[in-house]
Amino acid sequence: MHSDASSLAELLRIKPKRIDVAFLPTLIHSSGLEGRTAIVTDVLRATTTTINALRNGCAQVLPAPSIESARVTHARIPNSVLGGERGGKIIPGFHHGNSPLEYVGEKIAGKSVILATTNGTVAMEHCRAAKRVLIGAMVNIGALVEMLTDDEPVTIVCSGTDGEITSEDTLFAGALVERMLLARIKETAGSNGQLSDTAQIALSHWRQACRSIYDGRTLAEMFMVARGGINLVKIGLHADIEFAAQIDSIPLVPELDVEQWSIGLRE
Ligand code: MLT
Repeated sequence: MHSDASSLAELLRIKPKRIDVAFLPTLIHSSGLEGRTAIVTDVLRATTTTINALRNGCAQVLPAPSIESARVTHARIPNSVLGGERGGKIIPGFHHGNSPLEYVGEKIAGKSVILATTNGTVAMEHCRAAKRVLIGAMVNIGALVEMLTDDEPVTIVCSGTDGEITSEDTLFAGALVERMLLARIKETAGSNGQLSDTAQIALSHWRQACRSIYDGRTLAEMFMVARGGINLVKIGLHADIEFAAQIDSIPLVPELDVEQWSIGLRE
């Protein structure tokens, strides 16, 4: 029993396990992200859109925490376009919304995309202290696993929706935890020692989903009844959900350069 303030502080400094999940950016482990790799995700849709924009040849994605800061950056960066959403819809005066399907061809090729979204680009702000920040979604899960080294401490940072934990981000976290364990079979037996409680919860959620997939339900159907998905269904954006549910469709891993505040594909 820790009754005094100093022992409580000590308790709070306990290091997170090698694989940790923050269900919301505000729930990052109290010891922070220092020395850890953060994998930030907003499956519906900011990180899926970022990955697709870079796949389709945009020069860089510059995440903006607000509409105002996006406009300021746009005025400063030549050959840039503004993208993002509020309430899922394109922001007045912006060139693009937040649909991954929009980020194709001449509209973005060779250009800097300044992206301001309600949750995803805000979550990236919370990852500034990490050793490195990778951008994750269902579409690039296999490529992410290949990029991680064996002993790397990892925190999967879920963006959530409007301050609430979301199933779609948690499913991504669980799927990634499972892939990380499978990639290192010899560790699987003692895997629980590697996983924080939240990583174990995410893994259980994903395994439950896999049983439903086995019974014929699709991942996109599950996304449609999750918090972020419900918002998109309301405004008719089913195609974005289908796109975001395509596991391993884009074998690329964008990285956020925290100094430059720029997301690009690293060699
Ligand atoms: C966000 O970052 O808030 C989401 O991607 C929401 C959306 O795309 O509508």
